[in-house]
Amino acid sequence: MQVISLNTPSTASKIYIGKNVIESRLPVLTSGQKNFVVTDSNVYALYGDFFAKYFKSAEIFVLPAGEENKNFASLQAILEKMSVAGLHRSSRLFAVGGGVIGDIGGLAAALYMRGISCVQIPTTLLAQVDSSVGGKTAIDLGGMKNIVGAFYQPQEVLVDPTFLNTLPPREMKCGLGEIVKYAALNGEIFDRLEKGFDGLVDLIAACIEHKARVVERDEKESGERKSLNVGHTTGHAIELTSGLSHGECVLYGTWLETKMAIAAGVCEREYGERLLKILKRALKVEPLSLLDFSDIRACAQKAKSDKKNADDDKIVTSVAKAKNEWTVLSLPFEEYCAALEKAVVDWKREGQVCDQ
Ligand SMILES: NC(=O)c1ccc[n+]([C@@H]2O[C@H](COP(=O)([O-])OP(=O)(O)OC[C@H]3O[C@@H](n4cnc5c(N)ncnc54)[C@H](O)[C@@H]3O)[C@@H](O)[C@H]2O)c1
Repeated sequence: MQVISLNTPSTASKIYIGKNVIESRLPVLTSGQKNFVVTDSNVYALYGDFFAKYFKSAEIFVLPAGEENKNFASLQAILEKMSVAGLHRSSRLFAVGGGVIGDIGGLAAALYMRGISCVQIPTTLLAQVDSSVGGKTAIDLGGMKNIVGAFYQPQEVLVDPTFLNTLPPREMKCGLGEIVKYAALNGEIFDRLEKGFDGLVDLIAACIEHKARVVERDEKESGERKSLNVGHTTGHAIELTSGLSHGECVLYGTWLETKMAIAAGVCEREYGERLLKILKRALKVEPLSLLDFSDIRACAQKAKSDKKNADDDKIVTSVAKAKNEWTVLSLPFEEYCAALEKAVVDWKREGQVCDQ
C-alpha cells in the first residue's frame, strides 16, 4: 500500500493506494460517527457485497449513472436525504464511484452544515488518477460543465485498483487520457509511457503524486494548477461538439494543442513530436472512436466559452513546452481557429497512419 500526503491550508489529506486499502482503512473510517454514502446505480449494482459489508448501518443515496445527473436537482435530493438521515457536523460522507459521484458527493459534503468530513472512494480509472484528488467538487448547470462548485479537500482518498476489474474498456481509455496528460507535465511519467502503458498501479500512484504536489503549491488554481488543464480547452470543446468520452477528447485535445504549440514555437519540436507519438498510441487503444472534425469553427466557438478563458476574445490553453515544463498559449479567436484547422489537417495526415 502506498500513502501520499496532500497538505493544504484547509486540510491534511491522505491518499491510500493499493489492493488492500479498503479492508485496512474502511473499518476505521466508518466507526464512531453517522455515515452517508453517495454512489451511482451501476456501482451499486456491481458492488452489493461491498456496500453490505462496510455500510450496513449507513444511509445510501444511489444516483442514476451518467453525467446528465450531475445537476442541481440531484444535489438537492442528496442534501435533503442527508438532512432526513439526521447527519451532524461530525458525520462523514463517502463518495463511491466515478468522477460524477466524486464531484457531486464532494460538493454535498462541502455544503451540508458548511462542511462535513468527506472520503473519496474512486471506482473509475479517471477518478483514481485524477478527479478524486485535489478537492475540486462541482455540478453542471445550463449546459456548462462544473460551473457551480467549491474547492473542498477530502479527508482521505482510498484508491483500490481492483474496482477497475469491472470497468468497461471505454472507461479505461478515458482514464488513459488523464494519465497521458500527466506525461505531458512530468518527465518520469513521460519516460514510462514512451515504453508502454504497463504497470498501472504504479502509474496511478505517479499521477496522484504529481497532482498532490501541484495542488499543495496552488490549491485554488491561480497559477501552477492550470497546468493540469493541458489538452482540456480543446478537449472540452470536442466533447461538447462530438459526444465522445471525456478522456478520448482530452487525448485528441492534447494532440491538437501540442501540434499548435509546436507550430507557434512554444513547444520544443523534438520533445513535442515524442509526446505526439505517446498520444497517438493512446488514441489507438481499443475501442476506437473516430472524430470527423466536420465543423471546426463550432468546436472553436465552444473553446471560446470555456471558463478557463479570462478574456472574452482570447482562447487560453495550457501546453507542454519541454520535458517537465509547461506554458500558457493564449490566442485571439481567429488565430486559434486557424491554428486548430491546421492541426486538424495534420491529424488527418499523420494521425491515421499505423506506424507504431
Ligand atoms: N474534480 C476533478 O478534479 C475532475 C477532474 C476530471 C474530471 N472530473 C469529472 O469527472 C466526471 C467523469 O468521471 P468518470 O469518467 O469517472 O465518469 P462517471 O462517474 O460517469 O463514470 C463512468 C461510468 O463508469 C461507471 N462505473 C464507475 N465505476 C465503475 C466500476 N468500477 N465498474 C464498472 N462501471 C463503473 C459509472 O457508473 C459510469 O457509467 C466528469 O463529470 C468530469 O467533469 C472531475
